[in-house]
Amino acid sequence: MKFFIDTANLEQIQEAQDLGILDGVTTNPSLMAKEGISGTNNVMQHYKKICEITPGDVSAEVIATDFKEMVKEGEALAEIADNIVIKIPMIKDGIKALAYFRDKGIPTNCTLVFSAGQAILAAKAGATYVSPFIGRIDDIGWEGMQLIHDIAEIYAVQGYDTEILAASIRNGKHIVDAAKNGADVVTCPLDAMLSLLKHPLTDNGLAKFLADHEKAAKAVK
Ligand code: E4P
Repeated sequence: MKFFIDTANLEQIQEAQDLGILDGVTTNPSLMAKEGISGTNNVMQHYKKICEITPGDVSAEVIATDFKEMVKEGEALAEIADNIVIKIPMIKDGIKALAYFRDKGIPTNCTLVFSAGQAILAAKAGATYVSPFIGRIDDIGWEGMQLIHDIAEIYAVQGYDTEILAASIRNGKHIVDAAKNGADVVTCPLDAMLSLLKHPLTDNGLAKFLADHEKAAKAVK
């Protein structure tokens, strides 16, 4: 399973890249706004900086909601770097735009996916990635992870190539469950990624090893 970081924060992207386990980055308009990035030029410049940090796939989301504008925006974004993936919302014009970029050989990420039916449409339109939003489904009291399971089953039965990108990930359990249920990619905040490191027995075990080493060193003196 690939690991993407879900942020537009350059320091966090660099930190994840330095860990040596980063396969890409996802952003969205809210994440860009959180970093105080606005205006077309600044947004484009920011994507350029992200693409300079990581060679992995970087999802850049279009703001337009009609086909012609999505294509125009997406083509401009694709010019920024070879590793840009055009992120397109799951709406009718979005499906047309996904098919357009498929025919041009430009990679896409179909975002805001909340049902298996939407995931079938994204695959039919040739999306490179489909992004089911796990956390937001959990937020309304449904079982987000079941959607990953269902899409994985359908894609396997139908032989679709679209990769399942588990998004809206809130914690380490989501990451592990996404892996179990057949996600090809998980995109998560840095703290969720780092939470996988944590286990009290690791901390206690290391403290004991270091203490024993210190004791033995003193005994030799
Ligand atoms: C990533 O592609 C999505 O935009 C993101 O994971 C959404 O996460 P959120 O539900 O925490 O905003």
